Amino acid sequence: LSVKKELEKILTTASSHEFEHTKKDLDGFRKLFHRFLQEKGPSVDWGKIQRPPEDSIQPYEKIKARGLPDNISSVLNKLVVVKLNGGLGTSMGCKGPKSLIGVRNENTFLDLTVQQIEHLNKTYNTDVPLVLMNSFNTDEDTKKILQKYNHCRVKIYTFNQSRYPRINKESLLPVAKDVSYSGENTEAWYPPGHGDIYASFYNSGLLDTFIGEGKEYIFVSNIDNLGATVDLYILNHLMNPPNGKRCEFVMEVTNKTRADVKGGTLTQYEGKLRLVEIAQVPKAHVDEFKSVSKFKIFNTNNLWISLGAVKRLQEQNAIDMEIIVNPKTLDGGLNVIQLETAVGAAIKSFENSLGINVPRSRFLPVKTTSDLLLVMSNLYSLNAGSLTMSEKREFPTVPLVKLGSSFTKVQDYLRRFESIPDMLELDHLTVSGDVTFGKNVSLKGTVIIIANHGDRIDIPPGAVLENKIVSGNLRI
Ligand code: UTP
Repeated sequence: LSVKKELEKILTTASSHEFEHTKKDLDGFRKLFHRFLQEKGPSVDWGKIQRPPEDSIQPYEKIKARGLPDNISSVLNKLVVVKLNGGLGTSMGCKGPKSLIGVRNENTFLDLTVQQIEHLNKTYNTDVPLVLMNSFNTDEDTKKILQKYNHCRVKIYTFNQSRYPRINKESLLPVAKDVSYSGENTEAWYPPGHGDIYASFYNSGLLDTFIGEGKEYIFVSNIDNLGATVDLYILNHLMNPPNGKRCEFVMEVTNKTRADVKGGTLTQYEGKLRLVEIAQVPKAHVDEFKSVSKFKIFNTNNLWISLGAVKRLQEQNAIDMEIIVNPKTLDGGLNVIQLETAVGAAIKSFENSLGINVPRSRFLPVKTTSDLLLVMSNLYSLNAGSLTMSEKREFPTVPLVKLGSSFTKVQDYLRRFESIPDMLELDHLTVSGDVTFGKNVSLKGTVIIIANHGDRIDIPPGAVLENKIVSGNLRI
């Protein structure tokens, strides 16, 4: 009850033009918070989790083998591409939207996305639109940049996801005293995860607009996944299903390696496909959950969803996503929680859902500067906004790169490489401490460079390091 009062108080501070959307946000939050208070105990019963049946996760090769129809343009014109753009680049030491970080030859994530879709539209003479789901953290900066694409052959739309109040962990009351999100309220609000897309896309009116224009599916993905390009074979499978029964929801999954313990996996639960995240798994079963043999795949967050189904389920209030409780400590030391949901968790609410096991190349996320080093290097070549593994690399696997904390921030990372080393023959790179790389360095096999505290290692220009350990004061 006291939360309700606090939220009402906050709403009274909204100006007339803020009132409508603030009310919607706070109503949405109230429902989520209410569920959070009601739901006790684990969100899944481990005993009910089963391996998904054979045909519920199909290999991509099988989808591809069906080929493409002649009318691929008319199929493409029923598609809308949506990129999740609510996140900031804080984990790589950047202040603004993550999508505006330069990832390849000065091109940002957003530039590459626009190039990909423009290429598609030019090639097939189509008008596939791009929609960005922004948050209050990213909206202003993103919109400023969008002018630069005015002359591109891609119509770009944006909508804002909700803004929810963070809750004091002890009192369970909102930290915010009014609607503002600057000054003392800077840390009082948060975007409630990408599961928010269903409600905020619907509320923005864009969902109806696109349905009105004859669009049928959205392809949703993380803007930081450079492998998430429009796949015509999957699109064709959606539009022309072999058994005549259309899927309302397709989740692209890919094979787990031992390094992928974080991602959620698809399971069979009460007769339907369900995404289960590690946080939902009882402690006693975590090892079993992580094991590569029982749950072989994980969610790439590349999702194909029927617009009509989103509308239907949203209107029936029938999209059910588990609540993720995310604890945080604010700069002032206050412990808060934020309640979030994940877009893929809704898979269980849709009819005829399907997993497609796609090649690893469709999952190329850039979460750290180690990932950035890989995508900036000659391991990949850039073609119309898409990155593909260089044919010159002999092994199809990506090297394991671990850059130490002196490289965490993009600015520091860039300063430490005069040019990006040749990595075509690299298997493993570990760098720790104060290390810099001169121009045209070549890294091959396993290379470990460790500068001890107080030391600095400068790899000279033109150096070729092959299966080498460089450490301490040692100079090469
Ligand atoms: P994250 O980068 O936060 O997620 O967001 P993650 O930890 O890698 O893993 P998953 O995918 O959540 O499991 C992934 C994408 O979702 C957007 C980010 O901008 C990024 O593109 N996002 C995240 C939003 O748009 N809104 C949010 O509230 C959270």
